[in-house]
Amino acid sequence: SGVGKSMRHESADKHVSGEALYIDDRLEFPNQLHLVPRLSDVAHADQLQIDITPCYAIPGVVKVITAADVPGDGDIAPLTSGDPLLAQDTIEYYGQVLLVVAATTPEAARLAAAAAVISYRPLAAVLSVKQALAEQYWVEAPHQHKRGDSAAALAQAPYRLQGELEIGGQEHFYLETQIASAMPGEDGAVLIYSSTQHPTEVQKLVASVLALPMHKVVVDMRRMGGGFGGKETQAAGTACLAALAAHITGRPAKMRLSRQDDMMITGKRHPFYVSYDVGYNARGRLQGIEITLAANCGYSLDLSGSIVDRAMFHADNAYYLGDATITGYRCKTHIASNTAYRGFGGPQGMVAIEHIIDHIARQLGLDPLTVRKENYYGGEGRNITHYYQTVEQNLLHEMTDDLERSADYQARRAAIRQFNQLSPYLKKGLALTPVKFGISFTASFLNQAGALVLVYTDGSIQLNHGGTEMGQGLNTKVAQVVAEVFQVPLSQIQITATDTGKVPNTSPTAASSGADLNGKAAQNAAEIIKARLVAMLMHNYQAQAADIAFSNGQVRVKQQYFSFQQVVQEAWLNQVPLSSTGFYRTPKIFYDRSKAAGHPFYYFSYGAACAEVLIDTLTGEYKLLRADILHDVGDSLNPAIDIGQVEGGFVQGMGWLTTEELVWGEDGKLQTSGPAGYKIPAIGDVPQDLRVKLVENRKNPEETVFHSKAVGEPPFMLGISVWCALKDAIASLGDYQLQPQLDAPATPERVLRGVMQIQQQR
Ligand code: MTE
Ligand code: MOS
Repeated sequence: SGVGKSMRHESADKHVSGEALYIDDRLEFPNQLHLVPRLSDVAHADQLQIDITPCYAIPGVVKVITAADVPGDGDIAPLTSGDPLLAQDTIEYYGQVLLVVAATTPEAARLAAAAAVISYRPLAAVLSVKQALAEQYWVEAPHQHKRGDSAAALAQAPYRLQGELEIGGQEHFYLETQIASAMPGEDGAVLIYSSTQHPTEVQKLVASVLALPMHKVVVDMRRMGGGFGGKETQAAGTACLAALAAHITGRPAKMRLSRQDDMMITGKRHPFYVSYDVGYNARGRLQGIEITLAANCGYSLDLSGSIVDRAMFHADNAYYLGDATITGYRCKTHIASNTAYRGFGGPQGMVAIEHIIDHIARQLGLDPLTVRKENYYGGEGRNITHYYQTVEQNLLHEMTDDLERSADYQARRAAIRQFNQLSPYLKKGLALTPVKFGISFTASFLNQAGALVLVYTDGSIQLNHGGTEMGQGLNTKVAQVVAEVFQVPLSQIQITATDTGKVPNTSPTAASSGADLNGKAAQNAAEIIKARLVAMLMHNYQAQAADIAFSNGQVRVKQQYFSFQQVVQEAWLNQVPLSSTGFYRTPKIFYDRSKAAGHPFYYFSYGAACAEVLIDTLTGEYKLLRADILHDVGDSLNPAIDIGQVEGGFVQGMGWLTTEELVWGEDGKLQTSGPAGYKIPAIGDVPQDLRVKLVENRKNPEETVFHSKAVGEPPFMLGISVWCALKDAIASLGDYQLQPQLDAPATPERVLRGVMQIQQQR
């Protein structure tokens, strides 16, 4: 029943059979309207004029909605401002929503949306991050982490090198596109089914768009068909439009974006431009470093402030940087507003430093793994990050040793060198890379959660918490926690939709902290009820607390045994309340932005991956042959689910750095707006030999829920090993002395270019 066991995902069977209900699977309401947006076909313009009269010629059209129809605040930015629900006067990216049509069928709405006549005055657009950087065109001011005197350290270092790197973005490609359905109620109230990671923010924004108090808005979220960060802020637009249509027409309204519209409208992982200057010694140990991280934020702030912060917080990955200056720029461009995506900027920071380590290793002719270990946190004065948090309980030394041994790294390294000498065109590459990822929201106040546990008189339990299920298994884990407290079978616990009417004022399910926060809140609620039951039993049976034990679905009071249901019945008859809220806030965390110093993370999660690839130097094509992964989840709440997260994260990270390439035209139009042009990893890209292990006997030393660790995002960055292995294979062409310039994603075209670059330099 309880924690630590490999229980299957609560919806596993339904996911496979197709019986799991997503919003589009729900029975439709009578009189329901369907919404389709009209998108802009220019990246930047003003003097926007919209003529909607032609739309009404299409049969079935009920209402065409533009910015002028918004009764409340038309800006749905999550933090400050700058995200218009519908464009007004100005257009800021190609794909921006100009209007929506509400019609009796999706087909009618689509025809009508196309019929509107749009005019505007085009303006010059900023499309590249380098241009924005040169023009100091920001969505938010730059921020810097600084330790010591990096300029002096660089000048004094025995060796020094500079370089730059472009890192691509990533489309979320959740299987379920953005969707919401809204039902108007009494007195202006509205009920919204929204596929969102952040029901409270949808509630808040719907209320402000409709000029209603939050208590009039209920958001219900049973499950998402994937979120990956893409539904943290950017589910709100769809939900607000559905609510607005329902509010205006008095009819239920559903908005489900087509794949192409979704890819055009919504933001993605931030592309980054990175430049660096590093000083190091003959062993490859860093002495001083200056890194510039420039993010392509798109047209508005969204969460870019925190995302670039997290990139900066992870520009060390596992390494003590020495004297360091890390500068993060939030560049504004006229593309969709880039947003949260698994790792939240962390992966980009880590790719930068892993590239730097590779670069140093090539210059010195050392194995990159040797240089990695040389720079690991650890030893006298080498445990403090460049933002002054001490790295405690660092598992990377032992994990790297373990993985090096279990993956047979040294023997395979030798075999690969030999293979590459004998094989003229096919080359193999190998890389072992670490992950250290900080757990907590860096906006400290978000680290809170609530829950509501209801016990009914038949002993069945309804569990509500503020987290959202997107496939990651959060509901299963939280139910396991409650089952553990009451010592009842999991089947006795009903998992419910997340509902703003049950648990208010929640944080988004993000930053990998869903189980850490909501698990603790639910545990708190369950323990409050359990304490009441214990107090009642002590009183009724003249027992001591030590005489009472809940185990295996039974409650022992001295020598007497009761079923859980009998105890609950007795509580009801004794007028003992059987429901409780629970709450949790994460201790120990703080960050002083003005000093760029603090303890922003409760703890770190660790991982390591070893990837072996084969490339074809004539075409640039490649294959991942084998991957070995060792990952730290503390005392796992559910090893099966955690391994699933590790596998999925690794493959998604690999996709980001290999085949997933976003291409925009010179007009700012996203060219890769569907699966035909945008290649996510499929089953054939998963290596035939994939060996995933969780670290054993290393519980989280912090007081997390049953000493587990978060798992959602950290494994994503294990995918960096594949990108480094590709560079290793290319570097073999220059006898491992030259660093190929392999920007991400390392598509076959880029691998081929890297091969040609090394062949020319040699
Ligand atoms: N796993 C699945 N199957 N689907 C998802 O959408 N999102 C990831 C990760 N794993 C995601 C997933 C992201 S971005 C985060 S932040 C975490 O799950 C959120 O859930 P958690 O905090 O409960 O781990
Ligand atoms: Mo995850 S990017 O924090 O939703």
